[in-house]
Amino acid sequence: LRVLSVVSECVPLVKTGGLADVAGALPGALAGHGVEMRTLIPGYPAVLAHIGKRARKVADLGALFGGKAVIRQGKLGDTVLYVLDAPHLFDREGSIYLGQDGNDWPDNPERFAALSMAAARIGEQGVGKWVPQVLHLHDWQAGLTPFYLKRRGAAERVKTLLTIHNIAFQGLAPAKMLNRLELPSEYFDHEGLEFYGKISALKAGLVWTDKISTVSPTYAVELMTPEFGMGLDGVLRERRADLVGILNGIDTDVWTPPFKTPRGKVRARKALRKKMGLPDAKGPLCVVISRLTEQKGLDLLLDALPTLLDCGGQLALLGSGDAELERAFHAAAGEHENVAVRIGYDEALARDLIAGGDTILVPSRFEPCGLTQLYGLRFGTLPLVSLTGGLADTVIPASPAAMQSGVATGFQFHPVTRQALEQSLTQMCETFRDPKTWGKMQQNAMAQAVGWDISAARYADLFQELVSSA
Ligand code: ADP
Ligand code: GLC
Repeated sequence: LRVLSVVSECVPLVKTGGLADVAGALPGALAGHGVEMRTLIPGYPAVLAHIGKRARKVADLGALFGGKAVIRQGKLGDTVLYVLDAPHLFDREGSIYLGQDGNDWPDNPERFAALSMAAARIGEQGVGKWVPQVLHLHDWQAGLTPFYLKRRGAAERVKTLLTIHNIAFQGLAPAKMLNRLELPSEYFDHEGLEFYGKISALKAGLVWTDKISTVSPTYAVELMTPEFGMGLDGVLRERRADLVGILNGIDTDVWTPPFKTPRGKVRARKALRKKMGLPDAKGPLCVVISRLTEQKGLDLLLDALPTLLDCGGQLALLGSGDAELERAFHAAAGEHENVAVRIGYDEALARDLIAGGDTILVPSRFEPCGLTQLYGLRFGTLPLVSLTGGLADTVIPASPAAMQSGVATGFQFHPVTRQALEQSLTQMCETFRDPKTWGKMQQNAMAQAVGWDISAARYADLFQELVSSA
């Protein structure tokens, strides 16, 4: 089965979040299920540098949103990469989504419409002899693909699956851009391209794609509610028959603990304390690796910090994002010797934190799947998470019943408030004082299947179903 994954980021070339991890791991995971997945990605400098200047040109797209565009072919591990080389859109330094001023690049609508247009052309004509049967579209950046396919009369030939990784990002553009984006105004209404007076690439995807998935079963249900749907819950309710939740996995080859039993953590923890400049302590060393945004609920952690410190806990945080949160965490580190904070993006440190931490904190307000709690499980770093989205689907909380039957793998709190978080932190610290119980939970966590096996099979079935319906 031939599937083209259409995505705006992919490890190890470009990454701003979990989407890149998923895009990087899926092709390999699917290979064992009879799916040949190739990847279409924009030609950012890092991507072009990877495939090399002389990478073969395999398609000429002519003029695309204000400049010339071609597709070049390269490889990433065993995966074939199709790179949309359009310098006027992608040859720029800095963040892939944001300009120097920290705001979205003003031409983001064109940049990712171009990605979607390129995907539609490949869907229609293939590249050389390779013609995909399914297009696997990720988030708003690929959202216009089904519409462009339909306009090209190819929507019957090639089927589409749109995966929602985060509904907070909707790809909005002013209505005056309809022409520029080659979107006929007759489709600009609330049943089509329009979202409250603007064009929404994500909504267009949800309306015209054949099937929709999201990255956990719980988020699939949440998305259909006003509380989580961010204005698109109505569209999703209408498409409920075509919506499924398939849990993300993690790349277990990349995320392998440097120890086999929880006891091995002692050394990693010691090294981590040293690296972060934290004193020795009896309480749990809690870690956070996160974008610092409203979504992640870390403002609540700031509020609840005194409770954690009073129980003898420590905090080591790595993150970047919102300037106000960065400042507040810096200040907390300055005030408390048991708090250490690194602002920035650092893969190696992320690993050390997961390996050396006792607990990983993920107090998100919403979380489509979340990957860091999965890393935590695999490394015996018990997750303390809010009860939402993929966090609800991956952590078995230490409730009295779960403790009695000995299956708990972490701690969960609800609702997402300071009080509930404080209670959960207190429970976690108390449990930590009982090494036998803690050790059992670590064993459970490390034994939990967090790889791609099960979910890759589900994606493969879904692709097969789509092809059979063609
Ligand atoms: P999201 O995609 O919403 O940011 P996920 O938990 O799905 O959340 O994925 C986040 C990914 O980004 C994880 O692989 C995590 O380790 C990584 N990450 C986040 N912030 C940092 C950082 N400051 N340094 C290194 N890795 C980070
Ligand atoms: C998004 C979500 C996160 C999810 C990731 C990968 O960025 O915020 O929860 O794990 O996508 O699917």
